[in-house]
Amino acid sequence: MNANPGHRKVRSFVLRGGRLTKGQRRAFERLWPRFGVEFDPHRRLDFQTLFGNDHPVWLEIGFGNGESLAAMAAAHPERKFLGIEVHPPGVGHLLMKIEELGVQNVRILRHDAVEVLERMIPPASLAGMLLFFPDPWHKKRHHKRRLVQPAFVELAASRLRPGGIFHAATDWAPYAEWILEHFEARADLFENLAGPGRYAERPETRPLTKFEARGQRLGQEASDLLFRRTADSGDQ
Ligand SMILES: C[S@@+](CC[C@H](N)C(=O)[O-])C[C@H]1O[C@@H](n2cnc3c(N)ncnc32)[C@H](O)[C@@H]1O
Repeated sequence: MNANPGHRKVRSFVLRGGRLTKGQRRAFERLWPRFGVEFDPHRRLDFQTLFGNDHPVWLEIGFGNGESLAAMAAAHPERKFLGIEVHPPGVGHLLMKIEELGVQNVRILRHDAVEVLERMIPPASLAGMLLFFPDPWHKKRHHKRRLVQPAFVELAASRLRPGGIFHAATDWAPYAEWILEHFEARADLFENLAGPGRYAERPETRPLTKFEARGQRLGQEASDLLFRRTADSGDQ
């Protein structure tokens, strides 16, 4: 019997071991103090202080090795990017990429994105939220582990500004349908920018990663989903 029901959370990831390469370890030592943000459940981030300017904030959930995030940050110096990932080698890889490209407009959190959104991201603060190739959790009994759930849609809505964009991409068609259904079920919170029931054209703002290019060669096309937070910002 679980003496503490509700304590054990269903998480959208399994922490794989994954050793850091020497380069990643060095990048951590040198660059984490500058670009890393420690998880603190009692601290709401102040983006002005964190980045030193008032540019709009785009948050990427589960950035993997950070290739997309680093490319977006380089292409959009007028935006601030906050990346969240639980896998340490991915964080190390992104730190190396940040240095290689010389970008300054990135900060990183190494923690469960749901908890970060709940505890650290201020309501109605984000210009955009990005979810690229989230773990699809193929088996039916694992669907509860998918990041996109009814409560996640509400959480995303509460952290986006009115007019803010939620952009997801996946090459697993059943997950694309799942995301579409979950967001369209909340027409009070989000508007599908492609029109009801439709996927979006791939926006140029989403960099093509090696992972996706390989999928394309195997005939797996990715679907993009773009939703806008409606103006009525309800639960703030
Ligand atoms: C399939 S990978 C895709 C990575 C990357 N976005 C890409 O397109 O290559 C999904 C990533 O999401 C991360 N992830 C899953 N759930 C997460 C959560 N709740 N918080 C932070 N990261 C998460 C995993 O560690 C993994 O690196």
